Amino acid sequence: MRPYDVILKKRNNVKLSKEEIKYMVMGFINGEIPDYQMAAFLMAVYFRHMDEEERYHLTEIMAKSGDMIDLSVIPGIKVDKHSTGGVGDKTTLILAPMVASCGLPVAKMSGRGLGHTGGTIDKLESIPGFKTALSEEDFMSNVKRHGIAIVGQTANLAPADKKIYALRDVTATIDEISLIASSIMSKKLAAGADGIVLDVKVGSGAFMKDISSATDLARAMVDIGKRHGKETVALLTDMDKPLGLTIGNALEVEEAIDTLKGNGPKDLEELCVELGAQMLKIGKISPDLDSARETLRNSIKSGKALEKFRELVEIQGGNPNVIDDTSLLNISTHTRTITATRSGYIYSMDAEKIGISSMILGAGRIHKGDKIDLSVGVKLTKKTGDFVKAGETLCTLYYNREEKLKESVNMIQDAYTIKDTKPESVKLVHGVVQ
Ligand code: URA
Repeated sequence: MRPYDVILKKRNNVKLSKEEIKYMVMGFINGEIPDYQMAAFLMAVYFRHMDEEERYHLTEIMAKSGDMIDLSVIPGIKVDKHSTGGVGDKTTLILAPMVASCGLPVAKMSGRGLGHTGGTIDKLESIPGFKTALSEEDFMSNVKRHGIAIVGQTANLAPADKKIYALRDVTATIDEISLIASSIMSKKLAAGADGIVLDVKVGSGAFMKDISSATDLARAMVDIGKRHGKETVALLTDMDKPLGLTIGNALEVEEAIDTLKGNGPKDLEELCVELGAQMLKIGKISPDLDSARETLRNSIKSGKALEKFRELVEIQGGNPNVIDDTSLLNISTHTRTITATRSGYIYSMDAEKIGISSMILGAGRIHKGDKIDLSVGVKLTKKTGDFVKAGETLCTLYYNREEKLKESVNMIQDAYTIKDTKPESVKLVHGVVQ
């Protein structure tokens, strides 16, 4: 076999065998296949795509390229959750303690933010003292004893995906459904859960800008999960505006704590309940979605979910006092309000621009490995559908670097469209793929 022949075959739209896909992936990982040939292969996949079977093989090969976490030592059904990435998406911070407090073990490996989207691990690190790197032994023992642990992905989790993703990032081959689906699902398979709930975002702040392409991505991921024997379900959820009212790490932790206290924005709480209900059903904690929703709402009302979050913070070395006194979170005291230039309804918001505006302030990374400022970000006062008078506050920027402010202000002003007519309201959950 030669790389040339496999590239040619895919270029000519001929289906690849497992051996051919493995030859390309492993050859690239071992350094036997150079970047230029792998880049050509990825571009051929970009234009010719992969069918269900090819995706299934690609996912398995990438998953098995590194550690396969064995969660079988933890009693019960383990259900993972994954979001395809959005702006202001702090659901894991709320959802994980909610479902854990209902008896579902949470052994979660999360990622860091990149581009306009945030990551759970960065957010957790804005809690003073919180450790996101635990030994495998401590990770397992925390889940066994406390029912919850959230850590960063180990360096050796699906290393083939890491290397291929880096090449996709510089060769304009990120946004192809087979490549995205196998990239995400390889990490989910390696992370060892029995079931997977996917939150596939749709809209201006998401990878997938329309429902049709988001449905295709969801279908591809659900098929891969099921073929690997994992119960998998995907919700298609709105990302045409940011989720909740905050974007930026410490700001999002504060909002997550408020939500666990029952004082959070409705969209955020509802999404946590919807995703959590699927998790409790797959985990056989609840017999159906309605009873799961009820159990989850009670976990907030009773304070059980908040107490589980406090336990999580304590066992991972963080200062649990932040829960009672969120001023202990380091949120920048330099603020700039953005006001409406005219009266009318907020007709639309470009969530990606809002995410970029926060990133420019330092809350996110342009490149992997960039240092970020956990104390900065954006707090929204008005969202799509709200009426606003000229001069009223739309949002507040929290910043430290004065020299970045102007660029961020311009970006966020551009993100709001105000009109005389009220927009049609958009559903939070567009559909379920299972
Ligand atoms: N997230 C991933 O992990 N991989 C992709 O390809 C896209 C988003």
